[in-house]
Amino acid sequence: MAYDVPSIRRQFPILGKKVGKNTLCYLDSAATSQKPQCVIDAVMDFYANKNANVNRGVHALSEEATIAHDAARETVRAFLGAKHAYEIIFTKNATEAINLVARSFGDTLKSGDRIALSILEHHSNIVPWMQLSEGEGIGLDWLPMTDDGYIDVTATEIILKKGKTKLVAVSGLSNVLGTLQPLEKIIEMAHKHGAVVLVDASQLAAHETIDVQKLDCDFLAFSGHKTYAPTGIGVLFGKAELLKKMPPFLGGGDMIQTVTTHGFTPAELPRKFEAGTVAAADAAGLRAALNWMTELDMKAMQKHEASLLTHALTALQKIEGLRILGTTNPKKRIGCISFVIHGIHPHDLTDMMGAEGVCLRAGHHCTQPLHKLLDIPASTRLSVAAYNTVEEIDRCISSLQKAIFLLQK
Ligand code: ALA
Repeated sequence: MAYDVPSIRRQFPILGKKVGKNTLCYLDSAATSQKPQCVIDAVMDFYANKNANVNRGVHALSEEATIAHDAARETVRAFLGAKHAYEIIFTKNATEAINLVARSFGDTLKSGDRIALSILEHHSNIVPWMQLSEGEGIGLDWLPMTDDGYIDVTATEIILKKGKTKLVAVSGLSNVLGTLQPLEKIIEMAHKHGAVVLVDASQLAAHETIDVQKLDCDFLAFSGHKTYAPTGIGVLFGKAELLKKMPPFLGGGDMIQTVTTHGFTPAELPRKFEAGTVAAADAAGLRAALNWMTELDMKAMQKHEASLLTHALTALQKIEGLRILGTTNPKKRIGCISFVIHGIHPHDLTDMMGAEGVCLRAGHHCTQPLHKLLDIPASTRLSVAAYNTVEEIDRCISSLQKAIFLLQK
């Protein structure tokens, strides 16, 4: 499929929606992306033609549902470049995937072991580690950030050299600063010092191609809903040798081999980690979304998104009293731009813009430690996806200028 924005937009029914008399101007894809018709169709097709409980029945429909679910897993495997389909675990979202690792890999740790995580992490990659550390004698180390928004590799090495770190949890792409993190370096360094690495790819997966074998990460998590797929489906990739040693996270149906009155034996991968009825329709939607992304010319999409951010950065920098968080170098930004405006609360700003159909996100974006470090309670974020246009950025900027004028009156 050639990269053609109008034809891409036509595939997203919601983009034609009216908010009052204005057409929707959706610049909040870092929170959740919109869904192309093929994804909506895939979910409908599952319910209309294939719906049965996966792995449960031997009847024809259950077999069809199971085949569809296996196909979704294979699509995710190919999307991430994983070696084996059983290294792909379906979860509810990236948050659940990270919780799975914190609870299950965490179970293999002992008192005195430490987890290292960066200051720019999303709460989903902070709180599960805090929960693990509570009462277990597992310590947490915070990896600092450089002034331009990257995890400080030198400081990371100093922490790793102490030899206590068992897992490093880092985001691949900051959901506030839009900075692509030095994953290769961190992973190589962590392995040298005996730690495994979990990558939170929630933002990364929508904008960059990922190859888990080349990256050599041990775990990687992402949510379907940020990659044009439905909500309710997420992915954990884990290296087979680690997943095999980890105990099940949730107990219930389908994650067992046998159950007696004395206990149970867990199923083989990946079912060991997929207790209960799986979100098979959402997995079918995820498959359609990842295939849609793969068919898109990724390089052209990246170029398009970069040109939108360059355009937005230039315009935003001309607004008096507006401070951009992180680097203003457009070459160092992917996906989003967050900013604050002197004397105006982000919620007031986005409320006013929202009434005109312009959707931005306001708040701490689930990164309170980062916002504390930046010495601000909240910020406003503009984020882009494959379907956005320069005209939308222009509309957002004039709506922003109007809101600033009205709020500063
Ligand atoms: N994690 C999502 C965001 O950054 C919700 O907006």
